[in-house]
Amino acid sequence: MTTDHLSPVWSHLTTANVVRGEGVHLYEADGTRWTDFTSGIGVVNTGHAHPHVVAAIRDQAERLLFAQMNVVLPPLTASLAERLAGVTPDGIDSFFFTNSGSEATEAAVKLARHATGRRYVVVFHGSFHGRSHLTMAMTTSKTIYRRGYAELAGGIVDTPFPYAYRYGWDEETAVAFALRELDTLFKGQCAPDETAAIVIEPVLGEGGYVPAPRAFLEGLRERADRYGIMLVIDEVQTGFGRTGTFWNVDRSGVRPDMLIMAKGLGSGLPIAAIGASLETMSRWQPGTHGGTYAGGSLVSIAAAHATLDVMIDERLPEAAEVRGEGLRAGLRDLQRRFAVIGDVRGPGLMVGVEFTAPDGTPDAATAKGVQRACLEERLLLLTCGTFENVIRWIPPLVVSEEEIDDALAVFGAALDRSASLERVQA
Ligand SMILES: Cc1ncc(COP(=O)(O)O)c(C=O)c1O
Repeated sequence: MTTDHLSPVWSHLTTANVVRGEGVHLYEADGTRWTDFTSGIGVVNTGHAHPHVVAAIRDQAERLLFAQMNVVLPPLTASLAERLAGVTPDGIDSFFFTNSGSEATEAAVKLARHATGRRYVVVFHGSFHGRSHLTMAMTTSKTIYRRGYAELAGGIVDTPFPYAYRYGWDEETAVAFALRELDTLFKGQCAPDETAAIVIEPVLGEGGYVPAPRAFLEGLRERADRYGIMLVIDEVQTGFGRTGTFWNVDRSGVRPDMLIMAKGLGSGLPIAAIGASLETMSRWQPGTHGGTYAGGSLVSIAAAHATLDVMIDERLPEAAEVRGEGLRAGLRDLQRRFAVIGDVRGPGLMVGVEFTAPDGTPDAATAKGVQRACLEERLLLLTCGTFENVIRWIPPLVVSEEEIDDALAVFGAALDRSASLERVQA
């Protein structure tokens, strides 16, 4: 096999030549087994190649692959929207399907602009909403996503996220600060009556696995109501049970005007969606948005139906909650042994471990060293955070207690092996 003809624009965590997957494991042709605690970056919440999803894909592929939404009206697509209306927060009852998280985010911004007749979109420091031209301008987690691509799309403004640990404050102080800065933004940069949307990840993903406190989301809701701005919740990474509830917003109870979903929806097939009220969707002029593949791949739609079945039948959000507690408890034990672990946080199975040097600065070198040591044991873990000093734990939600314990043992040994770690007496 040669990889000479693959674009070098892809970075690769490993060169594992995987050919098969099952649950939390990936296999190379010679049988070498990898434990995937990345879930393909939060995609395979149902595990690799879940049999029910695979069967649904196979059945659908034998019947019809594609039904172009501007040409025909497939019942399978309509019924997926109906099912999503049953699991999304009250008031979200109309859906537009597309292929990726970036496309869905673009669609959300276009709808918000059409629905409100306004231009500005507020995002937060550390945000990641994608890499298409518009969403790159909404992504502030790392400069690499923007480097060399100026001029970026206009109308996007950013303001602090209440990242209490980074600021060295308690949560209340961080929330008050971030809301104050947002109010300043409304006075200084984007008048509220020219602001279409506030777009937020309820748990900052690429930016470091930082949950937005409920009080912050409530503060955003209050301002959105006051000014007629749409509150758009990006659940691309947090959705489909990842954080221990079906949606992360289910935890705070804060009502979104729009929900963006992708990753977990298709268990690996490309499908994404935005949901809003029918009243909002009705303000989107027909024909002003769409795409050849928007909602058209019935194989992806079938995969999404099967994903919903598995989510509900196997109670995966509840499983994520329970397994997440065990994972965090194990990581906190390690935190007591290793001072370099500054913070362990995150709901359900969206858990971040932040590495901090003795002087309080982000310690990316140790995070990377521990990640590398885990890779040597064929445990796949990703980093995140603006300073790349957070290791993120996102196993498939079907992960067992034993598989979590095994991964924790590998992680603990990696911490042990990594030089220059300051030991703390237990
Ligand atoms: C919160 C969030 N929004 C949007 C995206 C973009 O999704 P995609 O990579 O499918 O375009 C991502 C991808 O990681 C994400 O985590």
